[in-house]
Amino acid sequence: MSIQVINAKNAGFCFGVERAVNQVYEALQGGGPIYTYGPIIHNETVVGDLAAKGVRIVETEEEIAALPVCTLIVRSHGVSKQVMQTIAENANITCIDATCPFVQRIHKIVEEESEKGAKIIIIGNAGHAEVEGTIGWAKDGAFVIGTEEEAQTFSASKDNSYTVVAQTTFHARKFEDFVAILHKKGYNCSVVNTICNATHDRQQEAKEIAARADVMIVIGSENSSNSAKLFEICRKECQRTLFIQSREDLRPGDLEGAENVGITAGASTPRDIIEEVTVYVRNGTKL
Ligand code: F3S
Repeated sequence: MSIQVINAKNAGFCFGVERAVNQVYEALQGGGPIYTYGPIIHNETVVGDLAAKGVRIVETEEEIAALPVCTLIVRSHGVSKQVMQTIAENANITCIDATCPFVQRIHKIVEEESEKGAKIIIIGNAGHAEVEGTIGWAKDGAFVIGTEEEAQTFSASKDNSYTVVAQTTFHARKFEDFVAILHKKGYNCSVVNTICNATHDRQQEAKEIAARADVMIVIGSENSSNSAKLFEICRKECQRTLFIQSREDLRPGDLEGAENVGITAGASTPRDIIEEVTVYVRNGTKL
């Protein structure tokens, strides 16, 4: 019995991540020390390859302030206004801002609306780098709502007007639900759905494939929130959903009896890893 593989078309690097990774590789050709602010993507293989080529990572503003002459790349997640300021203040740094244009749009909305007096609510995961960066563009901070409970228990002055934005990789349905809760509670919210289409399309397609698959494989890193969400969505449609980082994570028996195997991948998964898993599954009838 041969295995039919259903590959998601919207899998792997999104536009913003691809652009950022390419910018690092392009910078490498120019020579000179290169740093990224945080790992450029949530993928050990790519980050390992870059490290082998000499790309180093800085994690704090103190480290940025102390950098010698170098090129510093800001990753697609973006950073706060304050971090941008710190980079600008160190004359040694040539900065390549690889913030995804869709994230830049959120920064602009948050900056402008908070400047006009609106309070900002970000629907997203507190502590996620993108959310932390976005908070830093609001004039006086922002509220973050990441769960239904937080939406239900949200409490702030109803005299304010609120601008609600989303983390680009947030779950589309949950975003709508949380906004509905805020409206129901009587908050005056102007809502900008800033969820990125790449995420929506990837989630939608993964859901459809998982519904017809006997086994669904999600390739992504454990610390990538969009991969974790893909897993959650697929798991609802297909009990036998596997979350792996690479081909090596597949275990004997994982595909036993499966005729249709779906494969999708998070935004930070390189194409060659998806291809490797696909080939392995296609040939791996003994798994
Ligand atoms: Fe940008 Fe969307 Fe990717 S916001 S980084 S293209 S998930």
